[in-house]
Amino acid sequence: MVKIAPSVLSADFSNLTEQVGLAEKGGADYIHLDIMDGHFVPNITFGPIVVKSIRKITDLTLDVHLMIENADHYLKAFREAGADILTVHYEACTHLWRTIDTIHELGAKAGVTLNPATAINLLDPVLEKIEMVLVMTVEPGFGGQKFTPEMIEKVTYLSHVKNEKGLDFDIEVDGGIDVETAPQVVQAGANVLVAGSSIFGKKDIGSAIKDLRKAADSVLNPQIMV
Ligand code: DX5
Ligand code: ZN
Repeated sequence: MVKIAPSVLSADFSNLTEQVGLAEKGGADYIHLDIMDGHFVPNITFGPIVVKSIRKITDLTLDVHLMIENADHYLKAFREAGADILTVHYEACTHLWRTIDTIHELGAKAGVTLNPATAINLLDPVLEKIEMVLVMTVEPGFGGQKFTPEMIEKVTYLSHVKNEKGLDFDIEVDGGIDVETAPQVVQAGANVLVAGSSIFGKKDIGSAIKDLRKAADSVLNPQIMV
């Protein structure tokens, strides 16, 4: 079954307890937390202190997407704050193997992600070492952008390599995921869907999660009517 990871980037930050609670009640699997430093991406969000507060209000897996330079310097702080999955950008890590080892030593799952312009086969050397690949389906930095259909072939590639080599990393997608685009990426092999505006941007957060899940599952189980 597909996992749904609502991104709090589009949530009401003045009421995170309620918003995360509604996502949890609505059947979310992960809570996706976007960390932006104003250097790697042009936007700034929040750091370990806020992650620690969110850790207190939910037992869901905290899926932390680090859009930051010098990720190595902050891994421990984010892990101690409660991150379960730490995902770093290929473009921001000079010694990616070492970074992945550090994440594992901290007891977290390791994810690696890449910008739309980065070739997917550059991740070949790390696929056996990681628990998740995050395919960015928009340029990282902002919520509410339009899905980039060209990224579907990256998902197809990963799915192929995964089957061929018998690997079991998750394939997550992030950016412009909604009831229209979810079936396309699931069809290609994605099994974790990040969604910000199509969940927290909706009035009824619980229904939005259910609609997204239904759209995604309709591909795996065609009897489900969307
Ligand atoms: C963008 C972030 C996303 C963002 C997605 O850089 O990584 O997680 O919240 O937002 P939507 O789902 O609105 O495209
Ligand atoms: Zn993200």
